[in-house]
Amino acid sequence: MRPTLADATRGRILFGGDWNPEQWPEETWHEDVRLMREAGVTLATVGVFSWASVEPRPGARDFRTLDTVLGLLDDAGIGACLATPTASPPPWLGARHPETLPRDEHGAVVWYGSRNHFCPSSPTYREHALRITQDIAHRYGSHPALRLWHINNEYGTACWCDTTAAHFRTWLQARHGTLDALNEAWGTAFWSQRYDDWAEILPPRRAQYLPNPAHVLDFKRFTSDALLECFTAERDAVTAASPRVPVTTNLMPLFPGIDGWRWAAEEDVVSVDLYPDPAAGPDDPAGAAHGALVQDLTRSQARGPWALMEQAASAVSWRPVNKPKPPGLTRLWSLQAVARGADTLCFFQWRQSRQGAEKFHSAMLPHSGPRSRVHREIRALGAELPALDAVVGTTVPARVAVLHDWPSWWAAEQPGRPSDQVSYPAVLAAWHHALWRRNLTCDLAHPEADLTPYDLLVVPQLYLLGDAALDSLAARVHAGATLVCGFLTGVADPDDRVRDGGTDARLRRILGLAAVHEWWPLAPGETVTLDDGTTGSLWSEDIEPAAPAGATTAAAYATGPLAGHPAITRHRHGAGTAWYVSTLPEPTALADLLSRAAAAAGVEPPLPAVPPGVEAVGRGPLLFLLNHTAAPVEVPLPTPYTDVLTGRHHTTAIPLPPNGVAALRP
Ligand code: GAL
Repeated sequence: MRPTLADATRGRILFGGDWNPEQWPEETWHEDVRLMREAGVTLATVGVFSWASVEPRPGARDFRTLDTVLGLLDDAGIGACLATPTASPPPWLGARHPETLPRDEHGAVVWYGSRNHFCPSSPTYREHALRITQDIAHRYGSHPALRLWHINNEYGTACWCDTTAAHFRTWLQARHGTLDALNEAWGTAFWSQRYDDWAEILPPRRAQYLPNPAHVLDFKRFTSDALLECFTAERDAVTAASPRVPVTTNLMPLFPGIDGWRWAAEEDVVSVDLYPDPAAGPDDPAGAAHGALVQDLTRSQARGPWALMEQAASAVSWRPVNKPKPPGLTRLWSLQAVARGADTLCFFQWRQSRQGAEKFHSAMLPHSGPRSRVHREIRALGAELPALDAVVGTTVPARVAVLHDWPSWWAAEQPGRPSDQVSYPAVLAAWHHALWRRNLTCDLAHPEADLTPYDLLVVPQLYLLGDAALDSLAARVHAGATLVCGFLTGVADPDDRVRDGGTDARLRRILGLAAVHEWWPLAPGETVTLDDGTTGSLWSEDIEPAAPAGATTAAAYATGPLAGHPAITRHRHGAGTAWYVSTLPEPTALADLLSRAAAAAGVEPPLPAVPPGVEAVGRGPLLFLLNHTAAPVEVPLPTPYTDVLTGRHHTTAIPLPPNGVAALRP
């Protein structure tokens, strides 16, 4: 049995952040650890960018810093999340072995001098990365401070070099078997692209005009897998030294560069870095909505508790304008993560850097020191987290699944499509936001996952759907589930080959549609009115319900070239119901539609009446209420509850200040 996050948390929510002592003189380390203790820190991530300090020249080893800081952490009773330093190779590696450096689509070298400058396919990079990982694992595998292994950092570098080309060909041979099969899968008859020899195949480099979309799709799959090989090699090395210590790598939130489902399956602990934009503003909770989406996705990838590996204590330094988080927002968004399944809350970073590219990025301990507002808020958060230990290891029950997949995203966003205005993550976010604002807690699910736990299946957009996914969807709806399906779904197979009829025949049968005849995408700012008075944007479609027993029209287009045609349809399929939504409804209309479908499927929010902007989500024994608005609110309670954060008892209602949070126990 692999270890899990529970082996690291040991029943407590872990709290802490990245600590980069390499950047500081040793006296500072002692002060750091003292202040960490005072702030309630229980986990420090160390070593992420330590390669040049541990291996200052090829083959040398200098463990003095890591020895000392791990010892200091252990003496202070603080756990270590020990990173392999392989995200940022030292300059000597690139200088001596330029073949370890990635090349972009144009063939230009991506030089050292920043970070993440490695070609994932380079045997030389892999060899050096593995060697230092093994040595670190050997030295610290049984260190008493060690709680969690952190491999690399935010994997995502792609490369188009010749070594990558050779590796890509091997990958393609495993996927397609023969060159004939590859030519068929890629549709290389188009534009005379037929390959006569494996050696002719390249990564999709800069070309004269549009590349072959199936080629690009396979390259994205390959890049994710190549990086995953780097991860699993290091994971296996640390596991060999410490089989009971769980392993993670910090994923980027809803990141297009790697297939998050495949990666999560290889991790003991799924962790994510999350930086919602505080400038979204207190009256526009887009930051909180983005957080909720990433948190639901991460929990679903983890199939249970997960770790928030990085968040900002206040401002970041990489947006055009970097606003600080106003008072209370760090607490609100941190507790939102706990409510949505996080058992670990960490920040980037503990002490704000004085030099380097991120010196203006906030930290738990800012330049202005421990008396700063930011640090005081960090301390207050650290002090109150133990009140929430009752949720550690528990789940967030959800009867709604939002289906999501990376290859579908990759295939849908290529050039040469009906509208470049359709952004997969934006459509996904719009649908998730609609569920979130009605407090309909959802998981995200791979289209081929077991869907039996879910009564409401939501497909914002899955352009590419394989046979297994279509069959499973059909079976689940036939057995009684409700499906709400958005446009541009089921259009292509896993090789991006278009299926007949506008969308797959099995999907049309579920939806009660004869055909999707023609897409009528909408221009930026253009809307179309439906006959129920609501509007849609982004997209519209000429769809034909099947006759005689096909879908009924729930709403028709009232304006535009499709006036009079169905826009939203509904169909009984076996014991279930399937809705089709051929436009992007305005936010309230989409939320209304999903609430209606949920209610019909017997799915209700955790509290019947919650003021707008208040998030309500149940986790384990607690019901969390989070006020994302700038105004105080009062939330009516059907039964009495005690707020474990304050110890106060509330019988009929609970007041919440702006950014206020309650964690209620019946
Ligand atoms: C993350 C990264 C950290 C730091 C942080 C700044 O993406 O893992 O090392 O750069 O962003 O927001």
